[in-house]
Amino acid sequence: MALSGKVCLVVGASSGVGHAVAIRCGKEGATVVACSRRMHLLNFLVEEIGSNATAVHMDVTDHKEVLDKVNDIFEKFGRIDILVYAAGIFTYSLIKNKFFEDWRKMIDTNCQGLVNVVASVFSEMQSRKIGGNIAVISSDAGRVPYPGLSVFCGTKFFVEGFLRSLRLESKLNDIVITSIQPGDVQTPSQQWTTDTEAAQLFSPLHCPPEQCQRAWDAMLKPEQVADAVIFALSQPKGTAVNEVLIQPITGPV
Ligand SMILES: NC(=O)c1ccc[n+]([C@@H]2O[C@H](COP(=O)([O-])OP(=O)(O)OC[C@H]3O[C@@H](n4cnc5c(N)ncnc54)[C@H](OP(=O)(O)O)[C@@H]3O)[C@@H](O)[C@H]2O)c1
Repeated sequence: MALSGKVCLVVGASSGVGHAVAIRCGKEGATVVACSRRMHLLNFLVEEIGSNATAVHMDVTDHKEVLDKVNDIFEKFGRIDILVYAAGIFTYSLIKNKFFEDWRKMIDTNCQGLVNVVASVFSEMQSRKIGGNIAVISSDAGRVPYPGLSVFCGTKFFVEGFLRSLRLESKLNDIVITSIQPGDVQTPSQQWTTDTEAAQLFSPLHCPPEQCQRAWDAMLKPEQVADAVIFALSQPKGTAVNEVLIQPITGPV
């Protein structure tokens, strides 16, 4: 098993990509610490993975809670070898429609939350000199712009800039920083858009049922993104998979 003996923190594990990653990490022999806000979903997940999994409440936008929980995890398990940051919000919106509150949540979660979690884990990995892997679920929208996704793209361009700079700091500490850049994935976040005008114009799922089913079927499955994460995490020491762009064949950048 590729991750035997490793302690793996999966943030955003209650749903979608993070959920699939947590299950794969468990199957690969890791001790899994599954975090997010919805504890009832994490508890189901932990039951599914088995005795090598624990659920921990974490709101990534609350940096005090993040730091406390990360410290607790280091205390309890003695180390974190792998962080997978899969918390995120994805919604379509048109700038003219002024969805300020949606944008605040998206920026808080995708950008500030990422910094809160990565800083808390990275600093401990560095001071304990244990090396490790930090893999972040970014997006193909961190590489190219998409209409109706200007704020979302902005958050993912931030993610890419943050990770590219951090990589230059982390190479001295044997910490591999990977950006996973999926295209459309079959997850609940495909249905979170409240700006119906933007969804009508740009969401591949805003169409008659038959067409919608075809669009859904064409998307990646969360398990395929999890495979990409495991590929990045299971490289030999000294090899860094820095970026993985993974898309449905129908939607190349
Ligand atoms: N689906 C796609 O097509 C797609 C494409 C490219 C990239 N992505 C990216 O993939 C990542 C995962 O998204 P997904 O599609 O898997 O969405 P999802 O199924 O909606 O899952 C989002 C996860 O983020 C967690 N989360 C949200 N806010 C949080 C907070 N404040 N604190 C802690 N956890 C929080 C949620 O947990 P709780 O609600 O329990 O806290 C949930 O576990 C996102 O960064 C997204 O941008 C998705």
